Amino acid sequence: MTKHICVVGSIHMDLIISSDHLPKPGERMIADSVVTSTGGKGANQAVAASRLGPEVYLVGCVGNDGWGGELRSALVQEGVDVQFVTTKPDVPSGVGIVTALPDGELAVVVVPGADRELSIEDVELAREAIEGAAIVIIQLEIPVPAVQRAAEIAQAAGAKVVLNASPAIKLPPEIFAGVDTLIVEFAEAQALLNDEEPLGQSRIARRLGALGPDKVVVMESGRSALLFDGEKILEQTALGAEIVDSTGARDAFVGAYAVARLEECRLEETLRSACAAGVLASTQVGALPAMPTREEHEGFLKKLATA
Ligand code: RIB
Repeated sequence: MTKHICVVGSIHMDLIISSDHLPKPGERMIADSVVTSTGGKGANQAVAASRLGPEVYLVGCVGNDGWGGELRSALVQEGVDVQFVTTKPDVPSGVGIVTALPDGELAVVVVPGADRELSIEDVELAREAIEGAAIVIIQLEIPVPAVQRAAEIAQAAGAKVVLNASPAIKLPPEIFAGVDTLIVEFAEAQALLNDEEPLGQSRIARRLGALGPDKVVVMESGRSALLFDGEKILEQTALGAEIVDSTGARDAFVGAYAVARLEECRLEETLRSACAAGVLASTQVGALPAMPTREEHEGFLKKLATA
């Protein structure tokens, strides 16, 4: 196997509801529209990386239902290698119910379904794809033992682990040691720290850095971010664009970040590239359909450079 990216994570059918507000308990609310689209952080990040060029493997689970087949086909169409996506009997595929509000804010309810079935054994079966990877991306919509095993296999083989700690859940502290980059969303990051006092982005990055990852990235909606490399802080401010739906923006960010690491870009460039992908993914409805192609991504970066 040549060096590739391997993503270990969730796969969902997303129901994206556009609405001007969220319903209150007891309210019957009429929303503007609903779109179904392939989602889940694992699937989104795999497609985000694949559209930028490299070979990408996805390790995850779908249910033995109609959506399971649809999700698998959508990933194949995107060029993602799904040989380590397992179909689990007697469970539904994971579902993401996303309410997209006019200001770009989201409320997301995930019903994990088959994601919950991703076992240590499934991860072991995908050992070849994990060990052969230059970069392994993992998020937290799958069971923690699977996260841990994937990180151990990757690190033992010398692959760089990009851990996107979303949703922010408490993790065994040893998981952070040896991680190449811990990526968190600012709004979620506080939950990873045993600290009640609200912290700013750079304090959060430094505090998370003390847990053991080589680098920490604190992003905001996938469109701007700050990186702490253990010594200095790099910042990328939000790149302008008209925001339509930011469902997949954070995943576009993570996918593009991993591709830039694979291509050994400088950290400043890596951060800018990730933010550019996050912005582009916010300009269309849906997560997976909104992921930028290499051409769109390079075109946007060139336009910014000459603006
Ligand atoms: O990050 C966006 C994703 O989060 C959605 O696709 C949804 O399925 C949830 O996993």
